Amino acid sequence: MAGLAWKWPRTRLPVGASALGVFVLCWLYIFPVYRLPDEKEIVQGVLLQQGKAWRRNQTAVTLFRKLLEECCDPGQLFAMTKLNSPMGKNLWFDGEFLYSFTIDNATYSLFPQATPFQLPLKKCSVVGNGGILKKSGCGKQIDQADFVMRCNLPPLSSEYSKDVGLKTQLVTANPSIIQKRFQNLLWSRKAFVDSVKVYNHSYIYMPAFSMKTGTGPSLRVYYTLEDFGAKQAVLFANPNFLRDIGKFWKNKGKGKA
Ligand SMILES: *[C@@H]1O[C@H](CO)[C@@H](O)[C@H](O)[C@H]1NC(C)=O
Ligand SMILES: *[C@@H]1O[C@H](CO)[C@@H](O)[C@H](O)[C@H]1NC(C)=O
Ligand SMILES: *[C@@H]1O[C@H](CO)[C@@H](O)[C@H](O)[C@H]1NC(C)=O
Repeated sequence: MAGLAWKWPRTRLPVGASALGVFVLCWLYIFPVYRLPDEKEIVQGVLLQQGKAWRRNQTAVTLFRKLLEECCDPGQLFAMTKLNSPMGKNLWFDGEFLYSFTIDNATYSLFPQATPFQLPLKKCSVVGNGGILKKSGCGKQIDQADFVMRCNLPPLSSEYSKDVGLKTQLVTANPSIIQKRFQNLLWSRKAFVDSVKVYNHSYIYMPAFSMKTGTGPSLRVYYTLEDFGAKQAVLFANPNFLRDIGKFWKNKGKGKA
């Protein structure tokens, strides 16, 4: 094959580019083009699955919910609250090696008394922002849920609402997006406040105590929304919860939990 005679160029590529090159080569090696199924095969595969559509299994749901509660107690620990994070408590960041902080007066005052959701949440939609929903027409179905969670401040403008819906109760925000899109809220903060208006009365869920670099931007989001009298409020992710839930999913992947 001509591809195998290809020589490494003498000029050094940046590490990222050569890694990408190797990845693409491996990918082509493992999945050569002739093994990709054609359209007919795909349609046939789908037709074969007819009648075996996914069905809700209440026994499995109850069992899984119990496992989750035992491992991570989301009802209590999902967010930082005055109840689960009293003043003076020492907490370890879940995304840093050996870095802890002590909850002081100023931080404590930012926490709600308890997790502010009416539990159980009943029917939930969890909506990612990878773009797969484009042209899906799923908006109505998503909005039918009692509680809609979205990931990382996705666009919700009217051109997308047919595909992704309008409703939001909780939206996650990575501190890095605050840095990249909103100059870390160190300059004008109005663009940020305007951009989150689409989330109506939502909570913005931020991992303020996962990485050292995330604390500042997360607190600034909190104060910005408060200063502007915005409808949205920040909920800080609890690092203990994030650590436990991370372990839980890893163990599930290995079939242990
Ligand atoms: C439902 O889930 C339970 C627990 O995982 C399992 O034992 C059972 O076989 C499932 N039932 C159906 C119909 O799939
Ligand atoms: C913490 O705040 C409360 C009320 O705002 C105040 O009474 C108390 O003295 C403060 N404690 C410390 C250690 O600053
Ligand atoms: C926004 O909130 C208002 C008042 O709670 C509600 O009437 C409206 O339907 C909400 N809009 C969306 C898109 O969720």
